[in-house]
Amino acid sequence: MHTVTHPPASAAPASTAPALAAKNLFKVFGRAPQAAVDKLRSGARREDVADDGTAAVIDASFEVQPGEIFVIMGLSGSGKSTIIRMLNGLHEATAGTVEVKGDALTGVGASRLRSLRRDRLAMVFQHFALLPHRTVAANVAYPLELRGVGKTERLAKANEILALVGLEGWGDKLPSALSGGMQQRVGIARALAADTDILLMDEAFSALDPLIRREMQEQLLELQRTLKKTIVFITHDLNEAMFLGDRIAVMCDGRIVQIGTPEDILTDPANDYVEQFVQDVDRARVLTAGNVMERPRPRVDASAGPRTALRQMRDAYMSAVYVTDRDRKPLGIITDRDAIKLVRAGENSLLGKLKPLPQSVGVDDVLMNLFVPSVESPLPLAVLDADGRLAGVIPRVTLLAALGPGPTATEELTVLPQPLPSAEIDAALDGTPADAGVTASETEGVR
Ligand SMILES: Nc1ncnc2c1ncn2[C@@H]1O[C@H](COP(=O)(O)OP(=O)(O)O)[C@@H](O)[C@H]1O
Ligand SMILES: [Mg+2]
Repeated sequence: MHTVTHPPASAAPASTAPALAAKNLFKVFGRAPQAAVDKLRSGARREDVADDGTAAVIDASFEVQPGEIFVIMGLSGSGKSTIIRMLNGLHEATAGTVEVKGDALTGVGASRLRSLRRDRLAMVFQHFALLPHRTVAANVAYPLELRGVGKTERLAKANEILALVGLEGWGDKLPSALSGGMQQRVGIARALAADTDILLMDEAFSALDPLIRREMQEQLLELQRTLKKTIVFITHDLNEAMFLGDRIAVMCDGRIVQIGTPEDILTDPANDYVEQFVQDVDRARVLTAGNVMERPRPRVDASAGPRTALRQMRDAYMSAVYVTDRDRKPLGIITDRDAIKLVRAGENSLLGKLKPLPQSVGVDDVLMNLFVPSVESPLPLAVLDADGRLAGVIPRVTLLAALGPGPTATEELTVLPQPLPSAEIDAALDGTPADAGVTASETEGVR
């Protein structure tokens, strides 16, 4: 469980402060909020304080880093909207603090709060909340209007942002002329027009049809690649949370029960509640090659020579190995059949017999995109990092195992075709001629 400790704002330069920090936040609606908080602090449960009020948020602490997409996920009624409304001051916290870039948002006066909200935090709502009698462009320009930006300038800016969200040319229409997905793009454009570092999105895609919704999720990630905002995104859908979130906070009955990366949540759910959610996750769309890959083996350095390669294959029970240069960049593969020929011919270099590298994938590719390459690769699938180095391999059995619950690394390696018998390899390494029956296997090759 993630708890938050950080120095007071005065000690932390703005650049290193988290974009948002919530510390021991409580929100109780009702008759006796403070009394409820005191009881909750000493261990009372939500239902124990029902007479005092509704404990919507109980002792929530987290930090959101600049540029991060932080998702808050939980069933309806778990307190997500109440948290996000405390982050932007729409709800006053019953106890605890919120800081924006190290500046207190809780406990400040009304005008300070208004300026923090206007300059630092923009919100996107589930039901778009567009002004129906204003044009699309005027809706997007609204935050600029509040800031006193002149009409020509703000409409020009609005049209620029509309183009960014794929709505070029729609500025003069009324919102009612647009589909739900397009209206939500206007909602996002309006939030972007506010030009804040932080975007708060409360179930922003939940009202949309599934296909439109997926498109919006992809578009949000695309925008984020260039805009690099800090985003707090609320959803009740774990698939959406996993797809969008750099980290996810899971809420249950007012409490944050786990904070982690999608992989943390998937592979190590904190309790039964989280586990229930996790069972419905589309792992193929969430886990990446980097999440499931194993140590890059078998692998030899190009300088190693055929004898070393052959020993590696014998020990790993593989019919081929990856050959890499000194920077671990793959040069190709060498098969046991070829290596044994080189050994018999007294060759010292592998390079003359290299076969091209089979299919490879990138560390960030999701599992869904690995199945075809995996089937086409005669070796455990090669995973390359951003610099083209061999970062790891994914045996087929590992790929399949990753789709089910539980740990993914099997350390088992797939083998196609059958490797040469080790006796034949040993004989070659010892310089004894192998018997004719065994050498017949040379007709089978890798590719
Ligand atoms: N303004 C309010 N007054 C009273 N109770 C509220 C108010 N807002 C939310 N609640 C209650 O707080 C709990 C959490 O609500 P909410 O934060 O909206 O959950 P979520 O967004 O996760 O669905 C619910 O029980 C809800 O009924
Ligand atoms: Mg809500």
